[in-house]
Amino acid sequence: MEKLALKYEGKAKKVYETDEKDYFWVAYKDDATAFNGEKKGQIADKGEVNNQLSALFFAEIEKAGIPTHFVRLLGQRDMLVRRLEMVPLEVVVRNIVAGSLSKRLGVEEGFVLSQPVVELYYKDDALGDPMVNESHVAAMGWAKLEVAREIQTWGLKINEILRNILVKAGIDLIDFKLEFGISNGQLFLGDEISPDTCRYWDIKTREKLDKDRFRRDLGQVEEAYQEVFRRVKEVLASV
Ligand code: TMP
Repeated sequence: MEKLALKYEGKAKKVYETDEKDYFWVAYKDDATAFNGEKKGQIADKGEVNNQLSALFFAEIEKAGIPTHFVRLLGQRDMLVRRLEMVPLEVVVRNIVAGSLSKRLGVEEGFVLSQPVVELYYKDDALGDPMVNESHVAAMGWAKLEVAREIQTWGLKINEILRNILVKAGIDLIDFKLEFGISNGQLFLGDEISPDTCRYWDIKTREKLDKDRFRRDLGQVEEAYQEVFRRVKEVLASV
């Protein structure tokens, strides 16, 4: 597989064309941003963790019957993915209140929701990714109503798959963000599943093991990323 022209550079990944038109080469970076790009920094070896941890999660999600863009690893911080036409939405699933939900509802972080919450956000940096519902999505033509519904159903199923793995690693899955895309009329999970895009708390100590350590200047950022990766690898190696 050959890496050809740079197609797109995002905040955390570079996407290259390959010699096969339906596949992209994704290179994960150590760059970190928060608050819609206002805060910038680097997290040592983040690219390696996010690439390899995402690969492990994508493989488990595929096994459970949800198609993902992941094809195979190409290196420590590189993976081959199927080329998707991205749905311009972020799907957030929450089990425990944190972050923007805590602010929006005035509920303290750590409040356990009686059932998972699913939210949709329209991807638009200039607007700061506003929260929308499925009727906005269908009315604006960002995706068909069936697609908006399916990605929420898949989000909830992925929540169960991830929680099942993470609980064995002594980690509470607080919330996470997913992105989806379409290839030949079929829906696939895309993007990444990593400490950049999820909140993970140690079940016992409640210590944060995710990008909130960077967002909130809590220190031990690299260590938290490595710790999650180490624990998940161990759980998946033992099954
Ligand atoms: P929030 O509480 O800031 O809305 O974030 C919810 C989850 O989504 C959290 O796990 C972090 C993740 N997330 C992203 O992956 N990218 C983003 O741009 C934002 C705002 C959140």
